[in-house]
Amino acid sequence: MTIYVDDELIEKVKDYSDIVDIVSDYVQLRRSGANYVGLCPFHNEKSPSFTVSESKQLYHCFGCGEGGDVISFLMKIENLDFIEAVKFLAGKYNIEVQSKRADDRYLKEKERLYLINREAARFFFRNLTNNKRPLEYLYNRQIDSKTIRRFGLGYALNSWDSLHTYLLNKGFKSEEIEKIGLIGRKSGNNGYYDKFRDRIIFPIIDLKSRVIGFGGRVLDDSMPKYLNSSDSLIFNKGNFLYGLNLVNKYSDRKKILLVEGYMDVISLFAAGVNYAVASLGTALTERQAKLLKRFGEEVYICFDSDPAGIKATLRAIDILLKADVKPRIIQLPAGMDPDEYIKKKGIIEFEKLFKKSINHIDYKINLAKSKYDLESIEDKVEFTQEVARILKSLDSPIEQDAYIKKISEDTGISLEAIQAEVRGKGSRNFKSQQRKPKISPVDTKVVSASMKAELDLIILMMEDRDYFDLIEESLDNIDYFTNEDFKSLYQIIKASYNGKTSLDREGVLDLYAKENPDPKILETVRNHQINYQLTRIEEIIGDLINTLKYNKLEKERNKILKQIEVLENKVNRSKEEEVALLNYCLELTRLNKEIKLIRHE
Ligand code: CTP
Ligand code: MN
Repeated sequence: MTIYVDDELIEKVKDYSDIVDIVSDYVQLRRSGANYVGLCPFHNEKSPSFTVSESKQLYHCFGCGEGGDVISFLMKIENLDFIEAVKFLAGKYNIEVQSKRADDRYLKEKERLYLINREAARFFFRNLTNNKRPLEYLYNRQIDSKTIRRFGLGYALNSWDSLHTYLLNKGFKSEEIEKIGLIGRKSGNNGYYDKFRDRIIFPIIDLKSRVIGFGGRVLDDSMPKYLNSSDSLIFNKGNFLYGLNLVNKYSDRKKILLVEGYMDVISLFAAGVNYAVASLGTALTERQAKLLKRFGEEVYICFDSDPAGIKATLRAIDILLKADVKPRIIQLPAGMDPDEYIKKKGIIEFEKLFKKSINHIDYKINLAKSKYDLESIEDKVEFTQEVARILKSLDSPIEQDAYIKKISEDTGISLEAIQAEVRGKGSRNFKSQQRKPKISPVDTKVVSASMKAELDLIILMMEDRDYFDLIEESLDNIDYFTNEDFKSLYQIIKASYNGKTSLDREGVLDLYAKENPDPKILETVRNHQINYQLTRIEEIIGDLINTLKYNKLEKERNKILKQIEVLENKVNRSKEEEVALLNYCLELTRLNKEIKLIRHE
């Protein structure tokens, strides 16, 4: 198949390729501030003056003056022509290419869709300028006519067919208009209706100034607050960011700010912040993370200060880290969003927030701190465990140590206790091969999860001799039952089987009742139902036993952690206490290993 190189492919290739990645195949680069430097491959030099900017996707040599983008780099170094360089990159990044004929039709169709959107945007814009109510709504929210024009804001009339009719008169077909998501089919195949009605319209404009989709907000409190164009041939919500067209035009790309809402982007821009973007009504995607990386040397997140905003922040952090971006987080006073904040406080105060921004580790630790009462020992232990999980994500032991020290100072938990947590359980390398246990042991509800698993096992044992054998075989230690009643039931069951293939269940329970004067547990056993798929029974029994083992070890571990803490908080430890402490630490390490085995085997 011949590859047909057009604007679109070139754009895609530039989008997907990473200049640092490409140049690294030829030049040994090292990071220097926001850029990478190395020895210039185009002239002879001893000290590096060849600079690559990741955020700008450009290279430049201060020695010989050579410079350009990823395509010109390849042309020069591989002696390719432009088309060959594009093809090379398309191949390297597995970018889908189409043969010329298919492409032609496809391109024409796309062109039509862009045209429809453009016409629609014009229509919406005119509606806005002619209608007092939406205009006033915007003015009330301090959005002036300059900002309206810059964002191309509009208004969808309170009508079921005005847009459809308008576009038909412009020569477009209903099928096309439906395809782009501006109209929908009425039920019963009975004509079409306009999807956006009586809403403020936010056109979503790409880097080539094409309208790829729309968001529409109601003017009051009705629901849904926003409607967005559905994905189409030219619109994919995960691939673009609201406001990126303006960032591309105006920002110096030193930093980029991710906010939650269209309105945030607009207010900020009106106030002079030309580096804010928002996702398009969905959770941040990896592709969007890459865009952020490209359009800002530093990536900041400033979401609404409410539970949903916190959740979204945590998710965004994870996605950004995956794209190798270490975001900084800006926190607003409770209940505020960037839109409100900048209106109330102005741009100077807003920009001060950047100085007070924190990195993702501090953000997570602060969040953990706010969840626990650090005066209580139990909470302290849990807090330490949570912090350990956070710190484990750090690559650098030096950084880890710095945090461990800080947290120890803040909370009074000993350095060693935190270290043991961080270094002990589930090392980083383990992560990649970590499989989720099928019945996952629940950390927080150790007692009830364990109870349920123990109970399930007891029921299964009585059900079938084969199950009993299987359980007995895998459960090498009766002490994994933490509940004394279950433990003795287990022994009675074992004795009752004694060579037999089946069991008289009531007989067993009676026996148990005889030995135990207050058999509360019997009710529970009699009433407990298990609904497992019997074809997977071996797997299920394995999981249940793992749950038991895990809970038992976890309990021991918590006990030891408390002992360690007590000893560590002592100012003058005796020799014996030092030895005890060491032994506890060793025991902790052993337990950590065992737990790790159970969780990841
Ligand atoms: N959003 C959406 N659908 C909804 C609600 C929200 O797609 N039903 C998306 C929109 O992209 C919106 C963003 O989530 O911009 C953030 O929501 P919200 O904070 O409620 O909206 P704002 O844009 O901040 O609007 P406003 O300030 O007018 O409340
Ligand atoms: Mn908002």
